[in-house]
Amino acid sequence: MRILIAGNGGREHALLWKLRRDAPEASFFATRPNGGMADECAAVDIAPADAPALASWAAANRIDLAVIGPEGPLAAGLADRMEERGVPAFGPSAKAARIESSKAFAKDLMAGAGVPTAAYEVHADPDRAASCIEAWGEPVVVKASGLAAGKGAVVCATAAEAVRTAREMLGGAFGEAGSRVVIEEFMGGEELSVFCIADGEDYVTLLPSQDHKRVGEGDTGPNTGGMGAYAPVGFATEALLAEVGDTVVAPVLRALGEAGCPFRGLLYAGLMITPDGPKVVEFNCRFGDPETQAVLPLLSSSLLEPMLAVATGSGLAAHAPRFAEGAAVTTVLAASGYPGAYGKGARITVPPLPANVHVFHAGTALDSGRLVTSGGRVLAVTAVGEDVRGACEASRAAAETITFDGRYFRRDIGWREEKRLAAGS
Ligand code: AMP
Ligand code: GLY
Repeated sequence: MRILIAGNGGREHALLWKLRRDAPEASFFATRPNGGMADECAAVDIAPADAPALASWAAANRIDLAVIGPEGPLAAGLADRMEERGVPAFGPSAKAARIESSKAFAKDLMAGAGVPTAAYEVHADPDRAASCIEAWGEPVVVKASGLAAGKGAVVCATAAEAVRTAREMLGGAFGEAGSRVVIEEFMGGEELSVFCIADGEDYVTLLPSQDHKRVGEGDTGPNTGGMGAYAPVGFATEALLAEVGDTVVAPVLRALGEAGCPFRGLLYAGLMITPDGPKVVEFNCRFGDPETQAVLPLLSSSLLEPMLAVATGSGLAAHAPRFAEGAAVTTVLAASGYPGAYGKGARITVPPLPANVHVFHAGTALDSGRLVTSGGRVLAVTAVGEDVRGACEASRAAAETITFDGRYFRRDIGWREEKRLAAGS
């Protein structure tokens, strides 16, 4: 079997790691692999955003499964181009990927399907956006409508801040992604990431996880792509997940099917668990990063089998996932300055680590054989333990021992779960 991974971040390294365990005999390829993936697969020097070129390459190289990691290439039609070339692909069509690439599309779809989410208005005119903000009161959330790498949403404590943010976005601060803004009602509660593998009709659910989006400890400072994650999440009981399935996942999959764009791939429901029940913050059309780095080490059944079932249309029924006992905590090591400007090229040293620790590479590269930083989020350090407490400690301890100039990481990943455990014990 020949498997291509499109993408080269921490999520893609985790996907590669898991698929290699599932199929040790397979040949693996990745587009422009990062410094950690490079040892574990063959490099394909084509950007995933160049969908026609990558699909031609995959067809010519007899790829049996193309796993598409990031949202950009999905929105650009990479799965469609793969299908046209007869390459089985895991990832939704560009039309189905609008569930992430256009917040306006996602909101309209949810409204039509009766899926609980925050009230919202979409505006292209700054004065109208400002009137809407004044009318709604504080706090309020302002978002760029297009793709903004997880950094396009600003929770504003005051109306003045919200008006300023909307004007900045509409003024071009987010480029084309901010040509329209979504003004959203603020939802209070705790967040939960739920990943479902969907084949257009059926779906299976992976372990629930929680991301840490803010750059600073105690969830302070600006939003990032994600500074850490853990799984599973204590409050995400079977009953809650069943409610999420009935009120969120199933209706949205049905609506996408009815809209002529059945969703085949990974549907990520980003939820706020409010006092009134689960409400959707956003959908993503791909695995979360860094949640994937926490969830996959706990997946004891095959990931390859359900992915192949989705890509080849053979049905998901026989592929209910199984998970190991225990918990996993992922600490992201970032370059100082992230999510703003940061340096590159710092030498990274990774000492030998215990067997329960996995280091997934993100913004790393090899420079004359030496590992150096090449992105904002550099490494994701996942530790598996008996519970979140043990996994937190092990993840933090391992993160301390990995060094590079300007290394920054949050030492409080999993704090909500630790607090819950402490309250219960
Ligand atoms: P998004 O880019 O839509 O994922 O939003 C990024 C983050 O902003 C979310 O993970 C939440 O922490 C926060 N957020 C977004 N929308 C809302 C909302 N309506 N109410 C409260 N927090 C929100
Ligand atoms: N961790 C958030 C995301 O992947 O969008």
